[in-house]
Amino acid sequence: MKIAVLPGDGIGPEIVDEAVRVLEVLDLRFELEAAPVGGAAYEAAGHPLPESTLQLAQSADAILFGAVGDWKFDKLDRPLRPEQAILGLRKHLGLFANFRPAICYPQLTHASSLKPELVAGLDILIIRELTGDIYFGQPRGRRSAPDGHFPGAEEAYDTMRYSRPEVERIAHVAFQAARKRGGKLTSVDKANVLETFQFWKDIVTEVHAQYPDVKLDHLYVDNAAMQLVKAPKAFDVIVTGNMFGDILSDEAAMLTGSIGMLPSASLNAKNQGLYEPSHGSAPDIAGKGVANPLATILSAAMMLRFSLNQPEAAARIERGVDAVLAAGLRTADIWSEGTTKVGTRAMGDAVVAAITGKTITKS
Ligand code: IPM
Ligand code: MN
Repeated sequence: MKIAVLPGDGIGPEIVDEAVRVLEVLDLRFELEAAPVGGAAYEAAGHPLPESTLQLAQSADAILFGAVGDWKFDKLDRPLRPEQAILGLRKHLGLFANFRPAICYPQLTHASSLKPELVAGLDILIIRELTGDIYFGQPRGRRSAPDGHFPGAEEAYDTMRYSRPEVERIAHVAFQAARKRGGKLTSVDKANVLETFQFWKDIVTEVHAQYPDVKLDHLYVDNAAMQLVKAPKAFDVIVTGNMFGDILSDEAAMLTGSIGMLPSASLNAKNQGLYEPSHGSAPDIAGKGVANPLATILSAAMMLRFSLNQPEAAARIERGVDAVLAAGLRTADIWSEGTTKVGTRAMGDAVVAAITGKTITKS
């Protein structure tokens, strides 16, 4: 089993270090190989996704990814910005199915900005299509406006598009995931305005015929955003396009009060996957040893389950995380009165201790 380890920028290296330490105590045989990505790769090699990093990712069974991005790169031309690394990996590896669970841990119910009774026991899964939509549609760019309110004026444009096979395959992934969970799928679109999403809705409805045991409903994205804060527990699995999924998954993550806890998986048709925390590179706290490594550690668990066929090892990690939360250990982002504040390394130590059956110490 070969795992490409791509730490990236900001807090990426610190949190990935902890996930790697956790993987190393599992007594499984991995080949771990690290490579630079994002701003770090731009600084080291002049490109956010160097050819050697891409090749390593392509040759691996799974990729453990930290985070990319820093304000200091905002002035670079778009193809050189750190974000292009993750977009390039998604595109080149065909990682079209993005799983973003939003789970409210019982011990963290009070960290949510919503009333505890609205989020207690929350367990929803957002499935975001990741290689199509306005993120990748062509043409895009700047030009002199051919028409509109100000013909001849400078304008910018992007293209929203989906092909039938793209929508069909993500719909199948979503129905299958819903079937394994609560049996309910909500497809989010903007069919009332956008041709692309009327097409999306029609195809999801067609594919539904093959999954009569799954209950399907459709919501417009604006309404979905509202329902997510009104009654989030009414959802089970949500499937949507790249752009809406980007926005709704951040919203859903925040409902749990702890984006620092949420893992994600991006899979291709060969079940090769990229695993990363749902949060970003947090350059403001980088290098301080205070970032929460649990989302990355839980992403490593997802990796074991989805790409490496090691569900037992995945469950061991998840039980370890439960144990450290139960023991009252908290990084700053999830800390509350009466719990013990720890840094990144101590949190990693505690998970390692829990997995290897040693006592969790609060130092
Ligand atoms: C995410 C991020 C990325 C996205 C950026 C960094 C390109 O926000 O993974 O959600 O927009 O997809
Ligand atoms: Mn995002």
